[in-house]
Amino acid sequence: IVENPRMTVIGTGYLGATHAICMALLGFDVLGVDVDSSKIAALQSGRVPFYEPGLSDALSEALASGRLRFSTDFAEAAEWGDVHFLCVGTPQSKGSDAADLTYVDLAFTELASRITRRALLVGKSTVPIGTAARLTSLVQAVSPAGTELELAWNPEFLREGYAVKDTLHPDRLVFGVQSVWAERQLAAAFRPILEEGTPLVVADLATAELVKVAANSFLATKISYINAMAEVCEATGADVNLLATALGHDSRIGSRFLKPGLGFGGGCLPKDIRAFAHRADELGVGQAVAFLREVDSINQRRRVRTVNLVEELAGGSVRGLRVAALGAAFKPNSDDIRDAPALDVARMLHEAGAIVTVYDPEAMENAKRSYPELNYADSLAQAVEEADVVALLTEWQEFRDADPDDLAELVAHRRIVDGRHALDAADFRAKGWEFRALGRPANPSTVSLEADAREGLLAFA
Ligand code: UDX
Repeated sequence: IVENPRMTVIGTGYLGATHAICMALLGFDVLGVDVDSSKIAALQSGRVPFYEPGLSDALSEALASGRLRFSTDFAEAAEWGDVHFLCVGTPQSKGSDAADLTYVDLAFTELASRITRRALLVGKSTVPIGTAARLTSLVQAVSPAGTELELAWNPEFLREGYAVKDTLHPDRLVFGVQSVWAERQLAAAFRPILEEGTPLVVADLATAELVKVAANSFLATKISYINAMAEVCEATGADVNLLATALGHDSRIGSRFLKPGLGFGGGCLPKDIRAFAHRADELGVGQAVAFLREVDSINQRRRVRTVNLVEELAGGSVRGLRVAALGAAFKPNSDDIRDAPALDVARMLHEAGAIVTVYDPEAMENAKRSYPELNYADSLAQAVEEADVVALLTEWQEFRDADPDDLAELVAHRRIVDGRHALDAADFRAKGWEFRALGRPANPSTVSLEADAREGLLAFA
């Protein structure tokens, strides 16, 4: 094995760029490669082409160390690298739930066909189970005769907003390997992280592929579970926020990913559960994960319910009324609008005849490009000006901090839907707002109880 392997990272999107930068910070020589020359030019000049806290500084540091460079040349990568990480995207196919593997297949063949030295190809993309086995044959078929190429799988679990931290200090590492050599070579590539005591699971290729989709499916299921309880709460006058708090205190359940609200979006969870269900059907085990379709439906229904709450507050219809949509990104601290619940709700309100004005601290450019039919404001204040109803759809800190009295000065009517349980309902109600939230009673008897309880606690403190 090569103790201090030279690494290439093929595909410098969200995952690849972060991986390349972090590996250079850990002391390895890294070459980032992408077919998109504008992306490569940006990264080489120290600019991260998307929003991710801390990544820009990390890129500057990695470039300054002299250990990181970028190129569009696959031949250069093939000739230079000992370990190649393949990080290209696997979006949802058009017109189907299946993952689109065009980019993965292309990246592996483009690279493997040019490699003439011993090397390890490591897939990091989220793929349908069985892809790594298929790629192993594909790589063998295209690689020059006599080349010792091996394929491994190393799923990645980073979250947007925490990409650098999750990459440098992951909860665990998973190596899917076909030989002891590959296991040792990967261990050398991750030595600094393993030396921190990070748990390592060494597995076969199929298990490594499955870990990723199984983890994302579990997280999606946990979110939809509490959102299903929100539906029950709405029918019974119970409060899903209190329910989630009480459930979360059970250490076997845990409070993380149990936050009720508008539900999950983004470039991973929605497409991963659909691709998994699709792949399970192909494998003849569709029934085992049939519940994932239900998880998806529950998630979609929260968006419709949010639109309904806005309509209810507006007196039945939003036609011709002004709605302020606070948030566009699929979650705070991100400019990513892929499958964003916030924009889906804004679009539905627009289609129902509302005049929708969107404001998001980071995702405005992306939102404008994809939803030109909506109106956009430059600030929170501008968005809520003369609004008939305000809808909080992504829980940015700026929205959490908004003062109900200040907002009241700007809006036409004090009506607000909190789609993310980000606001203090009692405070808004006390200041004259009609306040609605998913899974919570419209006119709670607990309002005074909540306020009293808080005062009681303060008295004790
Ligand atoms: C996810 C996985 O967490 C990560 O491990 C994987 O590598 C990629 O997919 P990410 O898409 O960045 O990461 O977002 P995440 O923080 O997981 O949030 C996903 C969605 O779930 C967001 O829309 C968020 O608003 C929503 N969510 C999350 C909830 O609605 N409730 C929760 O309790 C948690």
